[in-house]
Amino acid sequence: MNVHHITSKNFVNYDKGSEFHEIFEVLGNGILNSDYDIWKRQRDILQSLFKQNILENFVTKSIHKKLEGSLLPLLNDVSESKTIVDLEDIFQRFTFDNICTIMLAFDPKCLPNKFTEFQEVAFEKAFNKMEDAILYRHFVPRSLWKLQKWLRIGSEKHSIVSQQIIDKFLHECISTKFDEEQSRVINCTQEDEPNFNMLKALVEKSGMEQIDYKFLRDTAINLLTAGRDTISAGLSWFFWLVSTHPKVEIKILEEIRANFNANEENWLISEVKNLNKLVYLHGAICEALRLFPLVPFEHKCAIKSDILPSGDYIGPNTMIYYSLYSMRRMEQIWDKDCLEFKPERWISEKRSNIQIPSYKFIAFNACPRSCLGKNLSFIQMKIVAIALLWNFYFKVVEGHSVCPNVSVILHMKHGLKVHVTKRSR
Ligand code: HEM
Repeated sequence: MNVHHITSKNFVNYDKGSEFHEIFEVLGNGILNSDYDIWKRQRDILQSLFKQNILENFVTKSIHKKLEGSLLPLLNDVSESKTIVDLEDIFQRFTFDNICTIMLAFDPKCLPNKFTEFQEVAFEKAFNKMEDAILYRHFVPRSLWKLQKWLRIGSEKHSIVSQQIIDKFLHECISTKFDEEQSRVINCTQEDEPNFNMLKALVEKSGMEQIDYKFLRDTAINLLTAGRDTISAGLSWFFWLVSTHPKVEIKILEEIRANFNANEENWLISEVKNLNKLVYLHGAICEALRLFPLVPFEHKCAIKSDILPSGDYIGPNTMIYYSLYSMRRMEQIWDKDCLEFKPERWISEKRSNIQIPSYKFIAFNACPRSCLGKNLSFIQMKIVAIALLWNFYFKVVEGHSVCPNVSVILHMKHGLKVHVTKRSR
C-alpha cells in the first residue's frame, strides 16, 4: 500500500529528486531522469509515438530479421560445435542490435551468426561501464564520488571515458541521420513499405523547427537504457526458469503447436494478434518478471511531508528506496507460494490472462510513470521465446551457479552458461 501511495495515489508529492538527477546525469533531461513539466512533455511525445502501429510493425520486422539473420544461425552453429555458451551475453548482443536499429536506424552488429566471430563493441562496453559507475554512486557518499569525478579517478574515470564514447556514437548516429537522407537506414522486408525512423518521428512529434540535438541525444540514450538490458536480462531469467521447469516447457510447446502452423514456411513471422493467443506463454513471462523484476529497486524523493498508509511519517526532501526484488517474496502480496515459478498464477478459469494491478505487479512500475515499452517488451520476448524453444533445447551447465548480480538492472552474476541442442520432433 505504501508503494501504491507513492507511485500512484499521491504521485504529485514524489518526484525523482536532485540526488537521482545527479546519479543518473548521463541520461540528461530524458524521460527517465526528469520531473514535472520536462517529464510531462517527454511522456506525451513518447506516448503518442509508442501507440503507433507502424512502430510495432517495425519492431516485429526488425526482430525477425535479426532472429533469422543472426540468432538462429548462431545457435545452430553452437549446437553443431557442441560449445558451451553464455546465453545472457548472446541476449545482450541481440537486444542491443535491436534497440539501436529501432531507435537509431543503425545496426552495430554485436551479434555475429558464427560462434567464432564474437567481438567486443566499444559503445556497448561503454554502456556496461556506465551502469557500474551509476551503481557505485548509490553506495558511496556523494562527496566521495564527486571528488573522484573531479580528480578523474576510480569508477568516475571510467564513467567520464564511457560517456565520451556514448556521446560520440550518438552524435554520429544523429547527425548522419539528418545529413544523409538514406544512409544506414534499415530496410524493412517489403520494399514499398516506408521505414520507420524514430529520430525523424521524434522531430515531427515534438514540433521542433530546427533539429534540437540535445533533445534527440537525451531521448535516444534514455530509450536505449530503458530497452536494452531490461529485455536481455528478462529473457535470461525466463530461459533459466523454463529450462529448470520441464513441465512448463512442455506446456509452452503444446501451446505453440496448437496456435501456429509450424509446417508452413515462415510460420515464425506470426502477426502480433497471434501472439495474444499464447495465454500460457504470457503467464510464464509475467511470472519470470514477477520473480526477477529487472529494475530491482526504485528511489523517490518526497516534496512535502506526508504520512504513508503504514502510518510512517515522511519529512520533506526524504529519499525513499523500495525494493521490487524483495516485494516478490512477500507472502502478504503473492501468497505462501510466492517463491515458486507458477505461470498458472496468471491464468483464469476461462483460460484468459488475469490482469493484476500495476502497483502489485510492479515490474513495469505503476501509473502515471509506468513503462511505455511494456507492450513492445512482451512482443519481443514472445517472438524470441517461440523461435528458440521451438528449435532448440537449452540445458544449464551442471554446477553453474545462477544468482542475481547487484546492479541497476537485474543481471545474472555469472551469466547463463548452457548447452544448446537442436530439438528433434
Ligand atoms: C521487460 C522489459 C522492461 C521492463 C521490466 C521495464 C521496466 C520499467 C520500469 C520499472 C520503469 C520505471 C523506471 C523509473 O521510473 O525509474 C520503466 C520506465 C520506462 N520504460 Fe521500461 N521496461 C522494459 C522495457 C522497455 C522498453 C523495451 C522500452 C522502450 C524502448 C521502455 C521504455 C520505458 C520508458 C520510456 C520509461 C519511462 C516512463 C516514465 O518515466 O514516464 N521500457 N520501465
